[in-house]
Amino acid sequence: MKDFLIAPSILSADFARLGDEVNNVLSAGADVVHFDVMDNHYVPNLTIGPMVCKALRDFGVTAPIDVHLMVSPVDQMIQDFAKAGASIISFHPEASQHVDRSLQLIRDQGCQAGLVLNPATGIECLEYVLDKVDLILVMSVNPGFGGQKFIPSALKKLAQLRNIIDESGYDIRLEVDGGVTVDNIAEIARAGADMFVAGSAIFNSPDYRATISAMREQLSR
Ligand code: DX5
Ligand code: ZN
Repeated sequence: MKDFLIAPSILSADFARLGDEVNNVLSAGADVVHFDVMDNHYVPNLTIGPMVCKALRDFGVTAPIDVHLMVSPVDQMIQDFAKAGASIISFHPEASQHVDRSLQLIRDQGCQAGLVLNPATGIECLEYVLDKVDLILVMSVNPGFGGQKFIPSALKKLAQLRNIIDESGYDIRLEVDGGVTVDNIAEIARAGADMFVAGSAIFNSPDYRATISAMREQLSR
């Protein structure tokens, strides 16, 4: 079977019990912890920063932490999250004055680098930095909130990016974020995604293991 990764977004977790929530979702079969960082500037919401990432590491979380920066500017946060134990750091090209430099900064700090495309952002911004990304994150909702509905045009973007990645020969993950559920994950995988963020679909479900297993079952078809 293809190597698919499931990355629960802790945005929908119970923040009062975050360490336990992360451990629970990992023991329920999640591969990666998706960590949404919002600054009430780039997006109209405010969440958690590098101290919370470090607290999860100190709590004993060893799984990869996939930091999705929805902040502007990005460079200081890249350095702080790298020190705090992030594994992957992604940012939105609109949020950096110098995208190439910010991508390089992530790798220089020993993390994997990702670029995030909003629903209305075209794929052209990747043309000259394909050799500098380890991951492309396609937003299938407008960033800022969990629990929104999947925007179908993301499927076309995923398919275009799947072709570009395969033709490039680079080892690049294609991640999708927003509105992913048990019901649509198979179609999204067919479009070309191989890493799936799901927040509300997992954390609002009564049984994390059952939901993640149902997603894997869909992916194995
Ligand atoms: C939105 C965040 C997502 C969000 C996904 O800005 O980047 O990671 O938490 O939540 P769901 O899966 O509920 O759409
Ligand atoms: Zn996210």
